[in-house]
Amino acid sequence: RKKIGIMTSGGDAPGMNGAVRAVVRMSIAKGCIPYAIYEGYEGLVKGGDKIKRMHWEDVRGWLSEGGTLIGTARCAEFRERWGRLAGAKNLILNGIDALIVCGGDGSLTGADRFRAEWPGLLDELIEKGEITAEMCDGHRELNIVGMVGSIDNDMTGTDATIGCYSSLTRICQAVDFIDSTAYSHSRAFVVEVMGRHCGWLALMAGVACGADFVFIPEKPPVEGWEDEMCDIIKKHRALGKRKTIVIVAEGAIDRNLNEIKATYVKDVLCEKLKLDTRITTLGHVQRGGTACAYDRMLATLQGVEAVEAVLSAQPGDESPVITITENKIGRVPLMSAVKQTQAGAECIKKKDFDGAMRLRDREFEE
Ligand code: F6P
Repeated sequence: RKKIGIMTSGGDAPGMNGAVRAVVRMSIAKGCIPYAIYEGYEGLVKGGDKIKRMHWEDVRGWLSEGGTLIGTARCAEFRERWGRLAGAKNLILNGIDALIVCGGDGSLTGADRFRAEWPGLLDELIEKGEITAEMCDGHRELNIVGMVGSIDNDMTGTDATIGCYSSLTRICQAVDFIDSTAYSHSRAFVVEVMGRHCGWLALMAGVACGADFVFIPEKPPVEGWEDEMCDIIKKHRALGKRKTIVIVAEGAIDRNLNEIKATYVKDVLCEKLKLDTRITTLGHVQRGGTACAYDRMLATLQGVEAVEAVLSAQPGDESPVITITENKIGRVPLMSAVKQTQAGAECIKKKDFDGAMRLRDREFEE
């Protein structure tokens, strides 16, 4: 019976537990044996009780749990060859030759690299006498399937990553709370939101909350934006608006790639518009807590698809990443999606903002 490992890696995201639950139960339904690898790559490197066989009832109630119950870690050891050798040994000791990884682009790149090195890692372990050739029989191919779990929604090739709508919901709720106090005092608030180098959370929160102005990394404001922002806010105030909300993505930059700081935006609002202004950094409340309905559904459907992808893999196939495009669950080659995502980030570094927008577009260019 095929043994399938599931792990969560990188920053936790609401919906990861739903993904693990779906992989565990779909694996069992298909006659396979699921294993949870605790603490991400750290657990893979350590082995022992970090790799645990999972049963149907082990994931009961997981859909409504926040974070990741099997833990996650940012693991430096797995970036070293000795760490990947230890990981390979632990998989062979458990008879696992298929790994479903739910994480961001860094975690998925690590998984693909592991797969590329796989038979070589086994040969080295056999040579060192740590495993036997017989133990590797039937396991000379490693199947990797990626699922994108991240609140940032920063992967090209998919419309949504697991967790992004929960985080967006949380941001909207927080801004609603801020709205009432801002309205009471007729104040301005600069709200800093997460997203790393991606402006999706900030932009969509701006739309969903009716913000006055939004700063995102992909479309830095033109020089002299201070006046533009103030003119817009003045216009809104002249129409009778008693509150002002400006959303700043944590990765927001200007056209010279300098960070746009919430403190600077606040100073501009205070000095130029004489607005009583406060800053709210939402921080990790955006990432913790239970998953919204969409993320539970996405995680479940993608977990099912990930197991299907493992079972239909042919030798030599590229590793897939599970996507959702125009409301349909699908697969695209993992490394092409990662490379296109990274190319978008490179465009920003080279001040090619139009290029970044094109690559960040969900249109996947195979
Ligand atoms: O990638 C998810 C994310 O929450 C980003 O939005 C943020 O920049 C980062 O992780 C924060 O990481 P940490 O929890 O390690 O501070």
